[in-house]
Amino acid sequence: MLWFVFALLLQAPNAPAPAKAPEQPIPYSHKKHLAMGLKCKMCHTNPDPGEAMGFPQVATCMGCHRSVKTDSPHIRKLAKHAAEKTGPAWVRVYRIPTYVFFSHRAHTEAGAKCETCHGPVATRDVLWKETDISMGGCMDCHRRNKASVDCAYCHEAK
Ligand code: HEC
Ligand code: HEC
Ligand code: HEC
Ligand code: HEC
Ligand code: HEC
Repeated sequence: MLWFVFALLLQAPNAPAPAKAPEQPIPYSHKKHLAMGLKCKMCHTNPDPGEAMGFPQVATCMGCHRSVKTDSPHIRKLAKHAAEKTGPAWVRVYRIPTYVFFSHRAHTEAGAKCETCHGPVATRDVLWKETDISMGGCMDCHRRNKASVDCAYCHEAK
């Protein structure tokens, strides 16, 4: 019996608890929405010059929510944003200092997947910083992929 419990414990998925997930102004769930077959680029459009992925326009949400779940207080809040042409002030999860060069497009064109740098987003109700985007994290992947680790590759030459 004890062995059985022990075996179960060992098999329990050791997904880190989202203890550090910031509270968002509207409880949007990637898991629920991606289960409907939506694609990342529907909401994260990577506009020119391609550095940022960006956050969705409220209009993108309202495409569905004009008629879906309209009596939810969260959706009412969303509709108010749409009427006032403001966006919910999403709390940033991943962020690097402005003195570091980083381009989403350069990385996706080199074959990097969203999940490599952001974890299994499609299975998450809430997002938190679950991967290492520190300088060490960038360097490890650059070494593995024979990309440059020269200081001036990621930082302005002084
Ligand atoms: C229906 C719209 C929608 C789709 C589709 C969507 N997202 Fe998002 N995404 C959001 C919204 C809204 C936020 C802000 C709230 C949050 O952080 O949970 C966000 C935030 C994020 C963030 C955190 C950004 C930051 O630094 O604050 C990442 C990373 C992300 N999405 C990745 C993805 C990936 C990868 C996919 C596809 C697997 C995806 N998203 C699909 C709407 C969407
Ligand atoms: C393709 C249609 C579609 C799009 C686009 C969409 N949603 Fe949804 N959303 C749904 C559906 C359907 C549900 C109900 C899912 C469920 O309850 O399992 C839902 C549920 C929600 C809920 C939970 C509401 C509640 O009180 O239960 C929130 C919050 C939400 N969506 C926010 C957003 C935001 C913010 C965006 C834009 C970034 C967005 N949705 C884009 C279809 C969509
Ligand atoms: C090589 C690593 C890497 C890959 C691959 C990657 N991201 Fe990011 N992502 C980052 C970093 C680093 C930041 C913080 C950028 C900053 O602060 O300037 C970020 C920020 C974001 C943000 C916040 C808004 C923004 O534009 O800064 C969203 C949304 C996002 N990523 C979504 C995605 C999606 C969707 C994909 C796949 C199409 C993806 N990311 C692929 C590393 C990555
Ligand atoms: C998934 C592995 C991976 C991670 C993680 C990663 N990189 Fe890269 N990066 C690459 C590869 C591969 C290239 C080479 C692309 C090419 O040769 O076109 C590259 C190219 C670059 C470039 C030059 C491309 C350009 O012109 O914009 C910069 C700058 C850069 N990375 C910065 C970063 C920073 C900063 C981080 C951490 C926040 C990071 N990278 C994380 C794999 C990665
Ligand atoms: C692949 C990209 C990349 C390369 C190459 C790189 N850095 Fe960085 N560096 C970063 C990122 C990302 C940060 C920000 C980390 C964070 O968010 O704290 C950073 C931060 C720093 C900081 C500030 C650290 C702190 O603790 O405040 C210094 C100093 C620095 N880098 C120096 C260097 C030097 C010197 C080199 C060459 C040996 C170098 N970097 C090469 C990506 C890179």
